[in-house]
Amino acid sequence: MTKKAFWNLHVPGCSEHYLVHKLRRDAAYLPLLSRVAESNGQVVGAIYYARAFVQNGDERTEVLTFGPLAVEPSFQKQGVGSQLLETTMDLARQAGWKAILIYGEPEYYPKHGFITCDHFGITTPDGKNFPAFQGIELVSDGLKGISGQFHEPDVYSHLPQWEVDQYDRLFPYLEKRKLPGQWTT
Ligand SMILES: CC(C)(COP(=O)(O)OP(=O)(O)OC[C@H]1O[C@@H](n2cnc3c(N)ncnc32)[C@H](O)[C@@H]1OP(=O)(O)O)[C@@H](O)C(=O)NCCC(=O)NCCS
Repeated sequence: MTKKAFWNLHVPGCSEHYLVHKLRRDAAYLPLLSRVAESNGQVVGAIYYARAFVQNGDERTEVLTFGPLAVEPSFQKQGVGSQLLETTMDLARQAGWKAILIYGEPEYYPKHGFITCDHFGITTPDGKNFPAFQGIELVSDGLKGISGQFHEPDVYSHLPQWEVDQYDRLFPYLEKRKLPGQWTT
């Protein structure tokens, strides 16, 4: 499902299905907040949460991150992603988490209250802000007094292509294609 949702979306092929595989075995993974959506016994969506942190000098504040959020293509734009997001944000709030920071679709998450991280005085590890770098306070002033650099777990960025390719061979073949709208390097 994850492979189908992301295939050829941002780059030719995708690595998100391997990310799910790795994340579920990672110390930062939070299974109690992660959820799948089912329809007639078929998995049609999923969201995966992990521990992340904001570093400011010696001070470290734990925050949540998530990803991937994926919905089976034939079920997209029917509210599945919104339901996964809203349900798990409630779970996170109940569990005492104060904020979520993510790299995600700049057009999608603002519908759910996310704003860009420059509003919080939080940057990427190398001091950057951009539209995809977004966050939400789960409680009022959840990020008050917290600024610094956001660090997601290494697993999100450590996905060697040869490992992705090897893992991908376990799944039904899909053709890698260069398409308009994909990220440029
Ligand atoms: C993005 C995604 C998770 C949204 O889930 P969904 O179930 O399709 O979306 P919902 O039905 O909850 O929400 C639909 C609304 O979001 C909008 N939307 C859906 N995908 C969008 C996207 N990629 N960018 C911007 N808006 C999007 C729809 O236009 C619709 O807007 P409207 O309510 O104003 O009509 C899903 O489309 C998906 O898996 N896409 C491919 C993978 C991906 O991009 N994941 C997110 C990575 S950060």
